[in-house]
Amino acid sequence: MIELKHIQKVFHTPKGDIHACQDVNLTIQNGEIFGVIGYSGAGKSTLVRIINQLEKQTSGEVFIDGEDISLYNAKDLRKKRTEMGMIFQHFNLLWSRTVQKNIELPLEIAGVEKSKRVQKAKELIELVGLQGRENAYPSELSGGQKQRVGIARALANDPSILLCDEATSALDPDTTEQILDLLKDINQKLGITIVMITHQMEVVQKICHRIAVMSEGKVVETGRVKDIFEHPHHHITKRFVRDISSKIDDDKQNENLKQIYPDGILLRLTFDEDISRQPIVSRVIKETKLDLSIVSGNLTNTIDSSFGVLIVNVIGGTQQDYEDVIQKFKDYQVIVEVI
Ligand SMILES: Nc1ncnc2c1ncn2[C@@H]1O[C@H](COP(=O)(O)OP(=O)(O)OP(=O)(O)O)[C@@H](O)[C@H]1O
Ligand SMILES: [Mg+2]
Repeated sequence: MIELKHIQKVFHTPKGDIHACQDVNLTIQNGEIFGVIGYSGAGKSTLVRIINQLEKQTSGEVFIDGEDISLYNAKDLRKKRTEMGMIFQHFNLLWSRTVQKNIELPLEIAGVEKSKRVQKAKELIELVGLQGRENAYPSELSGGQKQRVGIARALANDPSILLCDEATSALDPDTTEQILDLLKDINQKLGITIVMITHQMEVVQKICHRIAVMSEGKVVETGRVKDIFEHPHHHITKRFVRDISSKIDDDKQNENLKQIYPDGILLRLTFDEDISRQPIVSRVIKETKLDLSIVSGNLTNTIDSSFGVLIVNVIGGTQQDYEDVIQKFKDYQVIVEVI
């Protein structure tokens, strides 16, 4: 478990003090994929470097499995860092070394003998899907392949924690998907705790269990991805959610919809994770004699759930019929709003 307690980080610069982290408190459970999302300059990289103590906090404590590692001496800290792999946006590979030799590097530093190094690198090359490219140099690889090398190298010492700082930000959408699938796979197969630093909401949506939203050095919101998506509180979070989900909920758009669909009623239905895969709409329609057309829909799938919003137009009934329809949806645990 990673526990950050009252983390403050102040950089003293000629232009004045920069408060990169301000009273950050976070608990990340073992085996969790935890996202830290925020815009540029929010303090994400500083925070992740404090987790492995590449950066020393100005004040506060960093507990890993119950031990305050900020109190460690240099030797103990070096050892602890081998339990925390890290991957980067620009891969940070050695250009003069082959794939195989890049992956072996942390093992060389740890003094592992050659035959064991070679064996371990071979296993990791298979794990990340780079068979056949062992002897290629980084310049001969695509971005996605380079990041696979980065991931394999980060796993060489069998870490229990993998820190990822914008690991997919230099990749195109398809390659991002593949790298995220690989990280999810590694999390499930090896049980490694993953901390994902990102400014991309689609990254946290795809693989994170929980997230923290950072702004100006502070954690402004934390929670399960689904809850954050459904009920963002802080305006920064709302911006991230709005960017991705194109939710149709602003008043102006609602007015437009009412002009396009003047008859009957317009309902905004929010489906929860447990019910969204059931045929609720068709059941409600069968149970009433009304007509229903789908105006717009948006279903989102996160790692452990799916939920969504559907806007429907119900016509052909009396006020009482419409109230019955609303009640039926509610009986199926759907959240109903009349637009
Ligand atoms: N070594 C440093 N010296 C001085 N200021 C720094 C240093 N490192 C970071 N900062 C400042 O601290 C703040 C947070 O920086 P940080 O790199 O943690 O942000 P970030 O959220 O990772 O941003 P990005 O998304 O652009 O990577 C910024 O204002 C940055 O300029
Ligand atoms: Mg950064």
